[in-house]
Amino acid sequence: MLRFLRSAMTSFTTPPRVPIPLNGVDYRGKVVLAPMVRSGELPSRLVALRYGADLVWGPETIDRSLIGASRRVNPRNGTIEYTRLPSNGGRTETASQESVIYRLDPVREKGKLIFQIGTASPELAVQAAKMVAGDVAGIDVNSGCPKPFSTSGGMGAALLRTPDKLVSILEALVREVGIPYKIGISVKIRILEKPEITEALVSRLVKTGITGLTVHCRTPPMRPRERAIRDQLRMIVSICHDAGVACVMNGDVTSRDQALALMEEFGVDGAMIATAAETNPSCFQSQADGGLLPFRDVVYAYIKFCIESENRFGNTKYLLNIMIPGKNKEFKDAKGAKNYADYCHILRFDDLLPAALQLDEILNLTGKSAFKDEIRSKAVQNAIENNETARAASGTSRPKSTSPVISKVGPIRTNSIPSPSKSKPEEIEAGVDIPASTSPPAQKQEVVA
Ligand SMILES: Cc1cc2nc3c(=O)[nH]c(=O)nc-3n(C[C@H](O)[C@H](O)[C@H](O)COP(=O)(O)O)c2cc1C
Repeated sequence: MLRFLRSAMTSFTTPPRVPIPLNGVDYRGKVVLAPMVRSGELPSRLVALRYGADLVWGPETIDRSLIGASRRVNPRNGTIEYTRLPSNGGRTETASQESVIYRLDPVREKGKLIFQIGTASPELAVQAAKMVAGDVAGIDVNSGCPKPFSTSGGMGAALLRTPDKLVSILEALVREVGIPYKIGISVKIRILEKPEITEALVSRLVKTGITGLTVHCRTPPMRPRERAIRDQLRMIVSICHDAGVACVMNGDVTSRDQALALMEEFGVDGAMIATAAETNPSCFQSQADGGLLPFRDVVYAYIKFCIESENRFGNTKYLLNIMIPGKNKEFKDAKGAKNYADYCHILRFDDLLPAALQLDEILNLTGKSAFKDEIRSKAVQNAIENNETARAASGTSRPKSTSPVISKVGPIRTNSIPSPSKSKPEEIEAGVDIPASTSPPAQKQEVVA
């Protein structure tokens, strides 16, 4: 009798918690990088992690673009690349013409990467999510993007108006991907104009088995520059907490310290930063750890990660245009950069030049340089200096590369998509109350060549 009473009281007082699967991650207590198309590629995520982001969301990737892609390991830097041939391609296309649609770092992003999917179909969502499930800590459904390219297909913010569909997508992902692969499924929404409509929607979403819900505190028609509205936040948090789902806030969060203060004020579990991190990812660093750093430090770290990740040059340039302040003297020159070596030359990052030159060769950018002669003489000068230093130090003549860009060429291994984790069911972290799906785990994986 006493035991019954104690257990009844405990279940009364212990808040429910959707169990966090073994290979998943709890969003509670985290300050995270937001999903951003273009601005959330691998080097942006690595630089955010470097400055203290607890988790990183990858850019929204549409289900159909992933389905049919190949997974391979880049032998030069160990990153995992999902690639596909252009639609007009075919058997005659060479490997170098494949486009990388998603790239991740299995070591530095381990346990920290959330893959965001754009979808309007439970079947396609499951098919696509299975392809990356073994490489990521969670799958998040984009239900907040108001851009026509997303909403026209019924994806993104359009899902806010079709809750039945959104619920069926989340349930399918929980059942067929989350459970067998032991990772969490989450959703990112926007607030709706009327709190009652948001309330009705969130109340349904938290019953799907998701582990987390992010709310961007703007309505779908609101422009990014309009101030985020936090009036509905407490209500959303309360619904999430009653169901044991972690709630992450987003919208006008600009630094780690502010994020922690907002989390305290609104009782939210985590906070997500987008545009502030796009401009200066050191916003993830608390004031006590040095706070916001000057743009040069951050740009150096970013370019280094770009080179290590073999990031597409156009993407690097796009983000550097955001990170380098417009009024800065170097900005004008930087706008004329045609390859990685140009950037290292303009910004005087001489130690990155050898790796930049190597990568330019890999990406076929060498001939495009706007500063060919200056760079060649600088490179020769560096080589001579390195050579002399090395010889003086050890008698060897080759300087050691500091970059993980190891070799210019090499076979790219194409892997099968990893199968669901083989670990045992009891490895699910302790949690209470939320019924698990009764569907059997999907065991068989298609090998995508
Ligand atoms: C360049 C850019 C790309 C974005 N891409 C995505 C995306 O892929 N998926 C998504 O859910 N939101 C996307 N967003 C929205 C952000 O994740 C975030 O919700 C929004 O910018 C509000 O956060 P902020 O006030 O910190 O900027 C994007 C925002 C920007 C600026």
